[in-house]
This record gives sequence, C-alpha cells and structure tokens, in this order.
Amino acid sequence: MSSAASSPPVCLADHDRRARAALDANAIAYLDSVAGDGITHRANREGWDALRLWPRVLGPLAGSHTRTTLAGRELAHPILLGPVAHQRLFHPDGELASAVAASAQQAGFILSTLSNTPLERVAAAVVADADRGPLWFQLYFQHDRSHTLELVRRAEAAGFEALVVTVDAPVNGVRDLERQAGFRLPPGLAAANLAAPAAAPEGLAALLARAPTWAEVEWLLSQTRLPVFLKGILHPADARQAIGCGVHGLVVSNHGGRTLDGLPATAAALPAVVGAVEGRVPVLVDGGIRRGTDVLKALALGASAVLIGRPLAVGLASAGAQGVAHVLRLLRDEFEAALALSGAATPAGTSSGLLFP
Ligand code: FNR
Ligand code: LAC
Repeated sequence: MSSAASSPPVCLADHDRRARAALDANAIAYLDSVAGDGITHRANREGWDALRLWPRVLGPLAGSHTRTTLAGRELAHPILLGPVAHQRLFHPDGELASAVAASAQQAGFILSTLSNTPLERVAAAVVADADRGPLWFQLYFQHDRSHTLELVRRAEAAGFEALVVTVDAPVNGVRDLERQAGFRLPPGLAAANLAAPAAAPEGLAALLARAPTWAEVEWLLSQTRLPVFLKGILHPADARQAIGCGVHGLVVSNHGGRTLDGLPATAAALPAVVGAVEGRVPVLVDGGIRRGTDVLKALALGASAVLIGRPLAVGLASAGAQGVAHVLRLLRDEFEAALALSGAATPAGTSSGLLFP
C-alpha cells in the first residue's frame, strides 16, 4: 500500500481510493455505472468547476456558521445523504450505517425505496436521536396504487418526515458497465421493502403503459399528510407544474448521470428552476457535489440544500458508518471554511453575487 493510501483520508477523493481497494468488481460496476457515454455524469463535475467564486474580504465573520432552515426546520448544515439503492453492496451494515452516520453528523438522510434493509429497521435506529437531521423516504411509484400506498403508510408509521418521489427514472438507463460486468445483486441481498419481483421481467411496453404521470403525483398528495418532494426536475415548466400540483419541494437532479445521457449539468439547470419556483418551495440539488465549495456554489445559485450520492457509497465502502460520518464531516468543514473565505459567513449570506460573472 502506498503511503497516500495508508495515511488518514483528508478529502472525499481519499475515501474514493479506499473504497475502490475494498470493493469487488460487481459493486464497483454498480457504483460507477453511468448512462450512455457518461456525458451527463462528467458535466455535473464540470458544471461546478466552471463556476468561479467572487469573494468579499474583511467583512465581519464573527458568528459565522453553517446553520440553515429547510421546509420549516432548522438544520445544522445544508448537506443531506441522497437516496442510494442497495447499500449493503458497499458494506455489510448498509443503510443502517449510513443512517446512523447522518444522524451523528446532523445530516438529513433519504432512504431509497430499493434499500437492502427494511425501512422500519432504518428508521428505528435513528428516529429518536434528538440532534439528527430530517429523515425522508424516497419513493418509487409501484406498479399499482395499493403497493405504493402500502409503502407510504409504512414510511409514515416508521417516522419518516417527507416523501421524495423520484420522477426521472420510469425505466432503467442504458448502462454499459453493469451489462459488461453482468451486475447482479449477490445472494442474500434484496430490495427489502418490496415483495419479491415477478419471475419474468416485464417488457418495455408494459412498463411504459404504467409509467407514472402527474395524476399519480396529485393522487399521492391526496393520500398523505407528509410533505412531498419531486426528485429529478430539470425543466422550469416541470417545476411550475409540480408547484401547481401542490408539491412541497424539488430536487434538481439528473440522477448522477445514471438515467438519460446528454442532460445538462445540474449546476447549469438549477438557475432556471430556481427562477421558475420564485421562492415558493425549497429547491435542492445533487450531482457531482464533492467539495465544500460546491455546496457554496449551489447555495449561491439559489439551492436550499444539497444531496450527495456516490460519496455516501464510497464512505461506506471505505470505513462503514465511520466512513460516511467522516465524508459528511469533511464536506461540512470544507463548507464552513468556504463560507468564511468567501465572506458569505452563513448560508443566509450566500447569493448570486458570490459568483464571478
Ligand atoms: C443512486 N441514485 C438513486 N436515486 C434515487 O432516487 N433512488 C435510488 O435508489 C438511487 N440509487 C442510486 C444508487 C447509486 C449507486 C447511485 C450512485 C445513485 C441517484 C442519487 O440519489 C443521486 O441523484 C446522485 O447519485 C447524485 O449524484 P452524485 O452525488 O452521485 O454525483
Ligand atoms: C440507480 C437506481 C436504483 O440509480 O435509482 O441505480
């Protein structure tokens, strides 16, 4: 092992290197899978990198902090763990480890519908923690409303505080790496919240015939008192339609470049969505957030908070719950430094004026 690999990780890239040394080819194929040629996946990172900060110096920094409010709740910082399916591929403790890590770092946690741990177990591990961040459930609409409603009722009963409906993946993206590697869930791992899948997978036509529409979103809003967020919004017209339906928040996302290739970077799509929303609901963003300066840039563009996807999986593979907690700690500390060095001082002090025109 090189000295770089054995010295303590100091940034997310260090955890990434450790994760790769720990994972088997099957898990790496799932982690690294991108749609098509990876144009969108690369664009996400390039989008943040292309934005340049324009700090103000010598302003007062006393009382600088990372606290912010989101959907009526005070958060210690605006970083959430996004929904990542099948986390026991990355560490035996899977979703339990990441939920506990989020709680320890006062970060929000969004459990995927496709978790390898039943949603009740994950919620029970953290729901009573006084200092934890928001606990949300990511919902994939199921093939019929009764199955969707069953998931919603289970999430409500377990203590999840919002539903995040992912709307950008009605069918799987075209992912070469998964097919080349013959990716499959190892024996013993399953989508623990769902009944066993039908023996014969359905064809595309059958899937598309039942793909969810806006009517499903309206139906869901009529069925639950939990706030409903839509994840996977890129178009301002969709943002307006979502608000017209009564949704409570949006996540600007291209699914980390894993669904449709050729989409814009989320940093590029965010301003038009923020403009269309006009402050009526919070707008979150994900895709390529790897540094505290990326968090700062997202807030400067009008996001209320950010989600991380792959860094969660990487933290898990690197060192289980401690690895995820450390990933969150690093990002949070970097963000705090960026707030001070930019002169913004607090999340509320961020604005588009922080970005070099
Ligand atoms: C995801 N993502 C995802 N999104 C979702 O809504 N439900 C899910 O189950 C999953 N599963 C999933 C698995 C893995 C391995 C990855 C990498 C991603 C997408 C995820 O929530 C998020 O949108 C992106 O990962 C954000 O981009 P970064 O942070 O990975 O660059
Ligand atoms: C993924 C799905 C599960 O990105 O959302 O792999």
